This record gives sequence, C-alpha cells and structure tokens, in this order.
Amino acid sequence: MLKDKQIAVYITGGIAVYKAAEVVRGLIKQGAKVRVVMTKSATEFVTPQTFAVLTKQRVLVDLFDQATNQLVPHIELADWSDLAVVVPATANVLAKLANGLADDAVTAALLATTAPKLVIPAMNEHMWQAPATQRNLAQLRQDGVIILEPTVGMLAEGYVGRGRLPEVATIVDFIRHQVALMNGQLQGRTVLVTAGGTKERLDPVRFISNDSSGKMGYALASAAADQGAKVILVSTIHDRAIPAGVTLVQVESAQEMLTAIQQRFATLDVIIMAAAVADFRPATVAEQKIKKTTDNDRMSLSLIKNPDILKTLARQREQQVMVGFAAETQQLIENATHKLTEKQLAMLVANDVSKKDRGFNADTNEVTILRPHQAPEALPMMSKTALAEALIERILPLLP
Ligand SMILES: Cc1cc2nc3c(=O)[nH]c(=O)nc-3n(C[C@H](O)[C@H](O)[C@H](O)COP(=O)(O)O)c2cc1C
Repeated sequence: MLKDKQIAVYITGGIAVYKAAEVVRGLIKQGAKVRVVMTKSATEFVTPQTFAVLTKQRVLVDLFDQATNQLVPHIELADWSDLAVVVPATANVLAKLANGLADDAVTAALLATTAPKLVIPAMNEHMWQAPATQRNLAQLRQDGVIILEPTVGMLAEGYVGRGRLPEVATIVDFIRHQVALMNGQLQGRTVLVTAGGTKERLDPVRFISNDSSGKMGYALASAAADQGAKVILVSTIHDRAIPAGVTLVQVESAQEMLTAIQQRFATLDVIIMAAAVADFRPATVAEQKIKKTTDNDRMSLSLIKNPDILKTLARQREQQVMVGFAAETQQLIENATHKLTEKQLAMLVANDVSKKDRGFNADTNEVTILRPHQAPEALPMMSKTALAEALIERILPLLP
C-alpha cells in the first residue's frame, strides 16, 4: 500500500521524538520513500543524524540551509511529497499551522505543500486540553488536516493523562489506511463483516465454540476500510488490534450476532459473513455453574438449532450484497454451491478446513469463489491479508 509513496515526515520538539524514529522505520519497511524535516527543538531530543541514517536522505532543519543543491529546499520537499505527516506534533506547531505561520523549515514546507496532511500530536494533558490548543485543532480539522488524537496513558510527567503519542504500530497503520483511502472505491458505502466463532453458553463459565480465530474477518474489515467504506466488524474476538477505520461491535452468541446485524441491516451495502456461526446451541443456559454429580458418569446435552443468519437476512434483503463463507471438510464445491443458491448469496467463498495450513486459525488460506451463473474461480494459496484484498476487489463490481 505504501510502496513508493513519497512521505515527508515532520518532527517537532516533544518528548516523544524518539518514537518518530520507529515510525520512519515502519514506513520504510512498508516500501515508502521517506524524507525528514525537523524543528530546532526536535533536534534537542534526537539528532538529525538518526533520521539521515534511517532514510539515507539529508534531514532538513535550517530554512536557509546552504548545503543542499536545491535553491529553495523546503519548496522542493513540499512539492516532492505525496503525503505530509507531523509526528510528534507539539502544541506550538499546532498553533503555527492553524495560523499559517512559516518561520522555520517545518512550518514553511507544511504551508507550501499541497499534499494531504496527517498530524499526530503528543503533549502534556493540560497543554492538550488548553482552550487555545483545542481551538487550533478545530481550525486544522476545518482546513482538512487529519488528526490522530493522543491516547490516555502514563505521560513523561509521571502521571496518567491524555496526551501520549499512540503506539508506533497504530501510527503506521493509520498512515497506511489514510494513503489507501485516497484511492478508495467504497467511499460512502457501509460494509458489515462478521468474525470469529460464536460462543454458545452452557452456564456462566462454559460455552461451546469452534476453532475460528477471526483472522479472515479482521483482514476483510481492514481491506474494506482501506477502500473508504464505513466498516462495522461484528466479532466474537475482541483482543486483536482494531484496524484503522473499523468500528468493533462485540458479540458472543449466534443470536447476539443476528441481532447486531439486524439493528444495522437497513443501512448496509455489503455484508460479509466470515464468522463461524454455531449451528446449534444448548437448549437451556444454566444460571449457576453446572456441578459435577457423583452418581452419574454420563451427561447429555440437549442442543437446539440456532437461527440461520444468512437465510434470515436473505428474506429481508433489499440493496445489500451478501457474501458468505463455507468451511467444508468434504465435497467442497457441491456443498458450497447448494449454500450459494439456498441463501441467495452474491458470492460464496468456499474453503477446505480439513487441511492444517489453511482455513481456521492459519495465516494463509486457499479458497474457491462461487458466484451465481459463473464458473467457480479457484484462487491460489495466499495470506489472509492478500485474500481479503482480492475478495473486496471482486465484491466491488457486484454493488448496485
Ligand atoms: C523536556 C521537554 C519536553 C517537552 N515535551 C513536549 C511535548 O511532548 N509536547 C509539546 O507540545 N511540547 C513539548 N515541549 C515544549 C516544546 O519543546 C516547545 O514548545 C518548543 O518551542 C516546541 O518547538 P517546535 O514546535 O518548533 O518543535 C517540551 C519541552 C521540554 C523542555
């Protein structure tokens, strides 16, 4: 996604400057071409040498730098960039940007660039909450600047508050997502993705579930968000990092999942059911933990059928493009074709979960795509991230 993107990283003088080095590394690792501009204050924390070595490029600090072979170095850099990222952004630089000041290399280049601007502030909590800072942020948003807000956590001052720079991985993912959005083909669309195996409760501490890890669902949510869609991820797995641009709705059982979808169904353009929904659930849920009885070596469970989510939704369907997954261990194509027709799906992604290196829990998957009136399309084995992108690409032409 960031391959060959030309990103100017502007570094200003906050305590979090050291994290900017990791951000620059992360961007380069994803294939971006990075050049760095620093304020004089930023160089008090980390030397320009660090960034020069990481980027293999001169770092611009002095607006009147005579050593470059460029006549006007800050304009050359401003014109070169596809994207401008300010990380960390001080309260001081927010104030300057909001007012169009241009008294050093950072602010002059930022005023001169027409590239989209991402600003990632970090500061003391009171500096963040100060009316002047909030006024400047509101102005910057109004000017089209995208702000990734600081998080709550332990500040350099030794107490917990809002002002911390988000984690490096979050920042890199945010930048990647913003770049993806620039070419997004799902702008204005709402996509709901389900993920994970449902948990069907037996009692307060036990449940019946399956091996689904939610990886495919999370990858699909991320790929849809990268295309500019508003993405709702209805998931039973909540301990993974939420991809940028995705809203997580936590559910547990098949019934909860169905309710969560139905509440939003009318607003959806696409629904992708990547969750592994249990077909059956315990007929009763014990209010207290079920005790081990001493006089009986056997225990039987009575199960009742869960609602079939896709079948239920198919009856209410209007504009929604519905995509299902079929995890099979035998007669893959026959079983999947039956599901495609029965559930009136626009697409069915069939995978053979009997093999260890694909399907449930694996990082890779090998699937066959079925669509009505089309021959099955077998895709080669690939990462779930790559597969998610391939599937979203195939969903685009199905939208009305
Ligand atoms: C030790 C130290 C840490 C600082 N940390 C921050 C910070 O995290 N965020 C911030 O907005 N300002 C911070 N400041 C204040 C800025 O360095 C100061 O406002 C400076 O003028 C910013 O210049 P610049 O915006 O041109 O980089 C810090 C100052 C010192 C001395």
